[in-house]
Amino acid sequence: HQAPGHVSVVIVGGTGDLAKKYLWQGFFQLYATQVGSGHTFSFYGGGLSPDAQATPILFNILKNVSCSSDTPVERCALLRDQFLHLAQYRQLKTLEDYKALGQHIQEQLQGEGMVEAGRLFYLSVPEFAYADIADKVNSSCRPASGAWLRVVLEKPFGHDLSSAQMLASKLWGFLKEEEMYRIDHYLGKQVVSNILPFRKVNQKFLEPIWNRHHIERVEIVLKETLDVKGRIPFYDRYGVIRDVLQNHLTEIMTLLTMKVPESLSSSQVVLHNKLQIFSLLQPVETKQAVVGQYQAYNAEVREELNKTSNQFSITPTFAAVMMHIDTPQYDGVPIILSSGKMLDERVSYARVLFKNDVFCVQNPHSIHCKPKQIIFHFGHGTLQRPAVLISKNLFKPELIDEEWRELTEHKDATVLGLPLSDFYAQAPKVEREAYAELIGHILSGRKDCFISAEYLLASWGLWTPLLDSLLSSYPRIYPGGEENGNLLDFHLKRNEIGYVSDDVVIINPEQMG
Ligand code: BG6
Repeated sequence: HQAPGHVSVVIVGGTGDLAKKYLWQGFFQLYATQVGSGHTFSFYGGGLSPDAQATPILFNILKNVSCSSDTPVERCALLRDQFLHLAQYRQLKTLEDYKALGQHIQEQLQGEGMVEAGRLFYLSVPEFAYADIADKVNSSCRPASGAWLRVVLEKPFGHDLSSAQMLASKLWGFLKEEEMYRIDHYLGKQVVSNILPFRKVNQKFLEPIWNRHHIERVEIVLKETLDVKGRIPFYDRYGVIRDVLQNHLTEIMTLLTMKVPESLSSSQVVLHNKLQIFSLLQPVETKQAVVGQYQAYNAEVREELNKTSNQFSITPTFAAVMMHIDTPQYDGVPIILSSGKMLDERVSYARVLFKNDVFCVQNPHSIHCKPKQIIFHFGHGTLQRPAVLISKNLFKPELIDEEWRELTEHKDATVLGLPLSDFYAQAPKVEREAYAELIGHILSGRKDCFISAEYLLASWGLWTPLLDSLLSSYPRIYPGGEENGNLLDFHLKRNEIGYVSDDVVIINPEQMG
């Protein structure tokens, strides 16, 4: 239970890209839903630039926040005006600046006789600045006892296991673990946050088939069409594995494979079961990974980092990694995590593909030959919205929960090459943006939607040996866009079904006959 009162929200990096794209919009949505709840707010955009320079930039961003589609126009205009009125820019560079902010918040609370609920600092700044800001917040912006302090951090949280450990220990010098909210925006996506509830609610259908006897393989895929222009200084240091596999795709992998707890209400038990997966995963060897780089990448690197043409970056912009869990339940089931930039389509999904009891090559049109699968469709793609899709030949209709509605308006869409009519579809009634969702959870103190230090370190423990072993691996170059071909076929071409075999040749089982 969160006692109502005044909340001061400070976005450090408040005029940056992320703040502009998602954060202010998320905080505006939070504000709109909280009007009348007993909570009151002040919003501060903080940054290194002087006030006079950054204030107009901030207000330009704030003027453009939008309301949910069911908000009447006049109501929306009123909410936006109020929101703008509660916001201000503050230069946050030196300890003095932070002290002045702390003092300002204190005076405002006293002046208006408000009870303080808490202070929320959202650090939308590069990782190297975290410890210094945490130090300043700790020494000069802590609320009086009784009110909470929550500091939100954006990935990357380290570069490998040892740097992640170092960063975590530094931060623990200034903040308690319970005060830190490490964001993985995938955890705010509706279908991601529904994987576990879905497995729980449908346990009686799923449990008998959620094992190696029935599961052919699991694919967790995030394909993007954009390049990384403009982000090279960050991206070239990190690459696709650190950017999305170590965090987003790993989260999904643990949610799909962890033991479903008796009850989902204990975040400790959920975390315990997630962590268990890391101890059961076989170490990932180099031969279980394919890395690629889109053709134009090095030219972009040279341009943005002013490198000479004989310096060659081997940072992967594509990776497909096959994992195995060492338990009787999953023994031999390939779990493939795959992502890349400049691919042929923008889509993110996880698919559990079940074994077909009929050999399909003779009659590829037979109903029995349609893949049996459950697809957790996180967004983008031809569907353009989140949904869980279940092959009609997998279960009977009683699986369908009345709370979810059929995607009738998308009858023409296809998912991974199959018409939507082949699936039962369950979709959220209202699509919500991941950041707005998580911002709501920060206010209510729902720590289970954020990454704990234990989980973070376990994940780096899994990925670091592979990252080290890939240090000297040259990525395969792929053209980018629609034309992706060659050995990376499965991963780069739409709608193919294939997997990475031990010797890293990509094969398509449907063509094996
Ligand atoms: C971010 C990565 O975490 O996730 C980006 O840094 C990537 O490189 C993005 O594009 C993908 O998220 P989404 O929500 O657009 O699928």
